[in-house]
Amino acid sequence: MKLSVQAALSKSNLIRSKNYTDNRSKPVIAVTMATSRQGSAVVNHLSRTNVFQIRAITRSPFSNYSKQLAKLPNVEIVKGDLLKPESLEKCFSGVDGIFGNTSPTKGWVLGRGSIVREYEIEQGRNLIDAVKKLADLGTLKHFVFSSVCKPKDPLKNEPAPGHFSSKWSIEEYILLNDLKNISTIIRPVSYYENFNSNLPGVKISEKIFPGVVNKNKAWQIIAVDDIGLWTRAIFQTPEKFLGEAINIAGDELTGNEMAALWQELQGTSSVRYSMVPRKLINFIEHDIGIMADWIERAAYGADLKKLKTLASELDITMTTFSKWLKEKNLRSRSVQRKLTFSF
Ligand SMILES: NC(=O)c1ccc[n+]([C@@H]2O[C@H](COP(=O)([O-])OP(=O)(O)OC[C@H]3O[C@@H](n4cnc5c(N)ncnc54)[C@H](OP(=O)(O)O)[C@@H]3O)[C@@H](O)[C@H]2O)c1
Repeated sequence: MKLSVQAALSKSNLIRSKNYTDNRSKPVIAVTMATSRQGSAVVNHLSRTNVFQIRAITRSPFSNYSKQLAKLPNVEIVKGDLLKPESLEKCFSGVDGIFGNTSPTKGWVLGRGSIVREYEIEQGRNLIDAVKKLADLGTLKHFVFSSVCKPKDPLKNEPAPGHFSSKWSIEEYILLNDLKNISTIIRPVSYYENFNSNLPGVKISEKIFPGVVNKNKAWQIIAVDDIGLWTRAIFQTPEKFLGEAINIAGDELTGNEMAALWQELQGTSSVRYSMVPRKLINFIEHDIGIMADWIERAAYGADLKKLKTLASELDITMTTFSKWLKEKNLRSRSVQRKLTFSF
């Protein structure tokens, strides 16, 4: 099918206009928040299949993140904003699939932090309204919404973090709009990448492995790249996933176990887990404090045993935390070497 033509792109696949040429032979999948950690993992893995054309949606098509994505095969960058419904209609015109993700993060304000539940819900409402129009036209085949993992113990869910309940409210809006049959909801737990922080007191060092959860509480986590792998599998095997919701995680460890892994990799005997004081978290980002309480009380409820079985059926190699840390350790060592050589 041919989409409306205007201003195509010279040599690169950066989109310069809201209308674009698409002589497509492959199904087109739009990815919202494509420059985010999660979105870029999804774009990357869909791109590698070479069976999809990907519309990577961003508010800033010429940012460095967008330019990196534009280098991938089968990817075009499209300007769009989840807060501007008219922009979404253009981004989604004629697509076969959509990966939808929303952000709770607004500018940081003292006493509030940066997480705003209503900010995310507004994006979700715009997103689902646009999906609904395409579903009614009968053109959209598959909508994947990325939410967040539901609790292991639902009776201990309250109070839930605002940036979790916002996503679950968007899930309800999907059902309310009768979109279940063309939708899959993917619900990741906390990213391994949260441990990449450079903030003083939260940065991993030779002696300290910091985290936001109590040292003895097992805690499910996942590599952001694995969210891309699962999403790729979901779009490639829709018959398995349409109408389904799936909690996803890659590993489950206590803070003490994480610190022990880091110690082993460092080859030292002096690493200890340090929990960032809850009062400090509450002050800086109140909703993350609520999240840490929630993880300790209700806990993420992904079924790792079932996921491993499903992953092997789908040719997904789940990244263990140990593997991710090993790669992080190698990366930081090579950076140190570079610094040493440069002196
Ligand atoms: N951190 C975790 O452990 C974790 C775990 C599970 C789920 N999640 C959820 O996953 C989602 C993504 O998080 P992330 O850490 O991957 O994101 P991120 O790397 O912080 O990126 C945020 C992105 O939001 C985009 N964005 C912000 N406002 C937008 C708007 N109005 N319209 C379109 N795009 C907008 C920005 O893209 P442009 O500026 O390029 O437009 C940017 O790429 C969030 O909802 C988060 O709560 C996070």
